[in-house]
Amino acid sequence: MNKTNSFKKQFPWGLMAFLAMGVAFAAIAPYATFNPDNFNNATSRFANETLLRLAGLYVHAFAGGIALIIGPFQFLSRLRARRPTLHRWMGRIYLLGILFSGLAAFLIAPGMISGLVGEIGLLLLATLWLWTGWNAYRNIRAGNREVHREWMIRNYALTCSAVTLRLWLGILIGTQIPSLETKYANDFDALFVEVYRVVMWLAWVPNLIVAEMIVQRRRTFQLSIGKKQLAAEA
Ligand code: HEM
Repeated sequence: MNKTNSFKKQFPWGLMAFLAMGVAFAAIAPYATFNPDNFNNATSRFANETLLRLAGLYVHAFAGGIALIIGPFQFLSRLRARRPTLHRWMGRIYLLGILFSGLAAFLIAPGMISGLVGEIGLLLLATLWLWTGWNAYRNIRAGNREVHREWMIRNYALTCSAVTLRLWLGILIGTQIPSLETKYANDFDALFVEVYRVVMWLAWVPNLIVAEMIVQRRRTFQLSIGKKQLAAEA
């Protein structure tokens, strides 16, 4: 592989891994203090919630963070080929992270500041997160490696909603700030709630579309390799 091709392959992975690590550590940091005074606009409500739901938030954030950090390494073909046992163990931890974080999401979603529209968006995301993870697991147990990889691409695209959520939140708040006075009567909380509601969908629907495009491109590529091999053998 020449230098340009290798850069083209490595750059998207590097960017994904960098953003995943950055968000995982930055997003989890306030919860690692176990002090609700450090929570943000969206989660300050947990200061008055039951202990069970507060624990749900911690489980969700930590287990999701672990999955976010492990995910990029599972896509490295060299690591898979050289250290298959490590890949398998990291995969198990990743999927357990999804299981705990996804189930905890059902516990913490009710009562979100974004209201029903945002709650439905996130509950749908949690359902798809668990479902794609289950399909990835079931297919690798059945020995269907390629189908397993496809489900993992979809699943990690959903895990990355933790990254895209924060990027979209920043972008939309930035675009709405100029109309803080005219549209929101200088009420930043009102602006935040409106943006948050939209972001609960924007954080994952485009990710899933991109994942599906990657899956389709892989299939086309593999089909063309198969045809070339058949032609060479003929
Ligand atoms: C992909 C499926 C995910 C779903 C369905 C989901 C769902 C939720 C829900 C319902 C909340 C509460 C929001 C609120 O109270 O307004 C939340 C908050 C949170 N989630 Fe997730 N989440 C997902 C992925 C992740 C991942 C992978 C991480 C890893 C870092 C993560 C970290 C957090 C954190 C730190 C919070 C607290 C809010 C904040 O500080 O921004 N989530 N999530």
